[in-house]
Amino acid sequence: MKYSIPRFTLLSCLLAVVLAVLTLASPLALAEPKPIVIKFSHVVAPDAPKGKAAAYFKSLAEDRTKGRVVVEIYPNSQLYKDKEEMEALQLGAVQMLAPSLAKFGPLGVKEFEIFDLPYIFPSKDVLRAVTEGPIGRALLKKLEPKGIIGLSYWDNGFKIMSANRPLRTPEDFRGLKMRIQSSKVIDAQFRALGALPQVMAFSEVYQALLTGVVDGTENPPSNMLTQKMEEVQKFATISNHGYLGYAVIVNRKFWSGLPDDIRETLEDAMIETTRYANAIAQSENDVALEAIKASGMVEIYTLTPADLVVWRKALLPVHHEMEGRVGKELLDSFYAEAAKFGFKN
Ligand code: LMR
Repeated sequence: MKYSIPRFTLLSCLLAVVLAVLTLASPLALAEPKPIVIKFSHVVAPDAPKGKAAAYFKSLAEDRTKGRVVVEIYPNSQLYKDKEEMEALQLGAVQMLAPSLAKFGPLGVKEFEIFDLPYIFPSKDVLRAVTEGPIGRALLKKLEPKGIIGLSYWDNGFKIMSANRPLRTPEDFRGLKMRIQSSKVIDAQFRALGALPQVMAFSEVYQALLTGVVDGTENPPSNMLTQKMEEVQKFATISNHGYLGYAVIVNRKFWSGLPDDIRETLEDAMIETTRYANAIAQSENDVALEAIKASGMVEIYTLTPADLVVWRKALLPVHHEMEGRVGKELLDSFYAEAAKFGFKN
């Protein structure tokens, strides 16, 4: 006897299969994998050089990974202040930071403070030779035992001094309370000038200047302007005595756990962002200085060559004094880079 499947049963089977396929192909099953989120926390304003570079990286990273990576930027210490952000990175609460090189001491990597030595870079070429050469790479490697990978160096620029009294000679600093970043080298720099350095988070500086908790500070013009410090400082001196730059750093576990293609794409985006960051820093600071001048709120003095001789005489002994902290060998390697460009120390 010929056995035949009733038409009705066949139809219901077909329907069931179609339904199963549709269910599997539902938005949930077909949904794209969740994007990888990079939380990038920083302490400056979005329109400061670092803020602009962070935004540039976000745009490159998201475009080039076609949305597989999302970079969330948290500027202005919105998430964490200076010291906290380092801890947050190590704990994996954020994945990317670009702290100033003056802020690695509390992490136990004190060698970065060499960048804070007064007049350590006789020219931009020397700076670049250090940050883009083997010395810079070896310094970034020191972060790895701390669970951190250093990707790049970004410039801000050279610092100006500010206070509510003119700062033309080293004597003018005597007794002034100066806000500093957490660097022992910067501490020594201000002590050499007879000032009283006080470590303070960047987000607290404006208020501290306003209320007189501190009398003055140092920063490149871009940071001064974007934090509105011109409202609370009457005098500034273009001294270019010290450098302010950043190390872009990531949580090591997060970074090495990324799919290879994503990591490589992000590394390329970072190389390009670094080029951008270092190309805009000088002009951003020039424009900021002009804006501070135009505000009419700060009287600006530029050191003359004769002033400079006096300032250098007061500040250069800090190199020798801090040799033990930053490492003599490292210091000599910086001098050797300068010598390649014809500068003697
Ligand atoms: C400061 O604390 O003065 C600067 O390091 C802030 C910054 O990140 O530029």
